[in-house]
Formats: sequence, C-alpha cells, structure tokens
Amino acid sequence: MMSKIVIGNQKMYMNKEDVLTFVETLKNTNMDNKQVIVCPTFPFLEYYNGVVPVGAQNVSINDNGAYTGEVSAPQLKSLNIPYCIVGHSERREYNKETDEEINIKVKKLLDQDITPILCIGEKLEERQNKSTETVIKNELNGDLKDLSPEAVKKIIIAYEPIWAIGTGLTPTLEEIDEAMNFIKDYVKTTYNVEKTTILYGGSVSDKNIDELNTVESIDGYLIGGASSKPNAFKYIIDSQN
Ligand code: PGA
Repeated sequence: MMSKIVIGNQKMYMNKEDVLTFVETLKNTNMDNKQVIVCPTFPFLEYYNGVVPVGAQNVSINDNGAYTGEVSAPQLKSLNIPYCIVGHSERREYNKETDEEINIKVKKLLDQDITPILCIGEKLEERQNKSTETVIKNELNGDLKDLSPEAVKKIIIAYEPIWAIGTGLTPTLEEIDEAMNFIKDYVKTTYNVEKTTILYGGSVSDKNIDELNTVESIDGYLIGGASSKPNAFKYIIDSQN
C-alpha cells in the first residue's frame, strides 16, 4: 500500500516552547519516502524551515492593502509556503466563512501556486438525516466554482465530519470509505478529474491510526489535536510505510 499523506493542523494549540520540542521530535523521525506537512499558526511557520514542508491555516480573500490581521496569498508565496488550509469548519462556524469566500481563497492560492487543502464535511444532524452527500456536493459546488479541471486537480480535499472533529468520535471505516469514494466519483464526473487526493480528518490519533491505515481509499489524514502531541504525531508518521 502507498504511504499516506500526514498533515498536522496545529490550530492555536502550541506556544514557542511546544513548537521547539515538536521540531526536535520531527528531526528525530524518519521521514524518508513519507509525505508529512505541518500547518502551524503564522508566527511559527519559519520554525519548520528545512525540517518539513509547511502550510498556513488560512489566507485572506485580498491580495494586498489595509486589512489588519490578515495574511495574503502573495505574502505566503513570498515566504515559499507550499500549502494552505482553506474552509476549515472552525472558520466556517466562528468566522462565518461562506463557500463564496472559500472559492475566492482557493483561487487566490492557486494563482500563487500554493496548494489549497480544502476542508468539507457534514454536521451531526446532517449525517443523522442522511444529507451527508448533499452537504458535500453543495460545499464542493460552491468552493470549486468556475475552476478548470487543471485547477481542481491541484487541490487536496479533506473530508472532515464536523461531529468527529476534536470529539474522539469517528465514522466507521465503512462510512469513511463510502465518503471517500463518493467525493472521488463526484469530482471525477463533475470536474472531469481522474484522480483526486482525499484526506480523512476528525479525531485521528495514535490509537486509531492502525485501523484507519487499512482503508485503501484514504489518501492521507488531516490531524488536529494529535498533531500538537509530538509522540502521537511521530507514531502516526511511523505507521506509514
Ligand atoms: P482533530 O481535528 O484531529 O482534533 O479532530 C482535525 C481538524 O480539525 O483538522
């Protein structure tokens, strides 16, 4: 089986000391032939220089100007940041980000040759009333609006059921497999893209990684809580071969 991509979304969990410890652990982790990406908060991006490729956790819808507290895609590019998370459910919920804005962010990133890691996924009540596939479709339609197949091909999609994020709950392996295949088929038929990279995210940890690794349709993981715990994250990297 091919090695899966391991992406850490460190959210706002760590301070400088934690980051330095984490970097040391990564330096002592064999990452040959592994695909590992870490997404720290903006101030800590440079701490990973030469250790692992990094991604930002968000980007502005604007390129330049009087936007206090924002960071633009051209700014990320000027720092050679290769990846950026967009549309995370926490930003959709707390910052009221819309699919329209997420679509702009995806385009801004692609304009700079930065790979978007686009997050989609349903709420618990949406899964319970069997509208998971409708939610996924609506998000993809909005977030990928007006993109060419060449552009869509470059995007990494992370399927993250909102009810699984930070809760210790996960869908069954069959449910994850179903969602992965649904997204792959939908992207293939709608955007004419043969092969898309789809990650699973939501309570991935050192405890459940071995069974998740058995699901062939999962191309990789977006890992929140466990990516701020050096030993758990190392275990997850070591489990890829
Ligand atoms: P979690 O978060 O691993 O803490 O559930 C995943 C994410 O939000 O990307």
